[in-house]
Amino acid sequence: MKHKIVVYRKVNSKVLDYLRQKCEVIYFDQLDDSSYPSFEAHLKDTHVLMGSGLKIDEELLDKCPQLKMVSNISVGYDNLDLSLLTERNIVATNTPGVLNETVADAVFGVLLSAARRIPELDAYVKDGKWDATITEELFGLDVHGKVIGIVGMGGIGTAIAKRAHFGFGMDVLYHNRSRNEEAESVFNAAYCNLPDLLKQSDFVCSMVPHSNVTKDLFSKEEFNMMKKSAIFINGSRGAVVDEDALYEALINKEIAGAGLDVYKKEPIDVEHPLLKLQNVVTTPHIGSATIETRLKMGMLAANSILKVLAGEIPTNVLNETANIN
Ligand code: DGY
Repeated sequence: MKHKIVVYRKVNSKVLDYLRQKCEVIYFDQLDDSSYPSFEAHLKDTHVLMGSGLKIDEELLDKCPQLKMVSNISVGYDNLDLSLLTERNIVATNTPGVLNETVADAVFGVLLSAARRIPELDAYVKDGKWDATITEELFGLDVHGKVIGIVGMGGIGTAIAKRAHFGFGMDVLYHNRSRNEEAESVFNAAYCNLPDLLKQSDFVCSMVPHSNVTKDLFSKEEFNMMKKSAIFINGSRGAVVDEDALYEALINKEIAGAGLDVYKKEPIDVEHPLLKLQNVVTTPHIGSATIETRLKMGMLAANSILKVLAGEIPTNVLNETANIN
């Protein structure tokens, strides 16, 4: 009997072809009102779910009596109820590592765009407003030589620190659950408590995963502690930011700007007040969204599935106590 895998997000056809050599693959390139009923019908006899973002909770798991594994195609896994998966002996995996450099590129892109006001000035040129040498009201802020504070110094945070230190000569501060010796010795990163990091950084960069502990970590008090010239960047999860407090901090000029790739609700509502602000640069959760990296993530997720179905434990397992046999 071939194992059945239900894929519920767009993945490279190479990944699907690879899995089809050994398994039955049911593919939904997205879940919407028209595809959901068919997706739901396949849950009753699927062995594996592969995708990202979808909430894997009790309601969904109750519809999947044969499920052995959830292969999450992302490094973040706040959409998974891990303790329930473990309780039901369902293995969960994610795709760490392969996206670190790509997400760091995207975060730096947003940081530079916010500091140098690139989207605003792009529109200025294209709208035909450029009729003389620009003056101070359109000037940006330097990035090189400034202080970057990275909250969440895992693999992606470390890749950001590398760019900041070697590429831009920045001083790197970081806050993390544990010390990161590589970042300290190679990128001269200084460990800080959160208030000190917020007070000293010119760029505060959130790379912290979402959990009960980090929900709304960046709130009124935290924005108040930042420099008035600070730019806040969020490249991790929208849920770690109190978006109302961020909006207030921006309109009250408690901070100078923000660069956001992630939001509490995705896609963000086009009427959201944050989208009305000129000093907020946005991207649609593109951290890992390059052709090369999405293929690597898909192949890592696929290989994890084949390992688990063969009774092996992949290195990227999230709930080690789950019994895979
Ligand atoms: C992840 O993999 O969790 C990132 O958010 C992708 O951009």
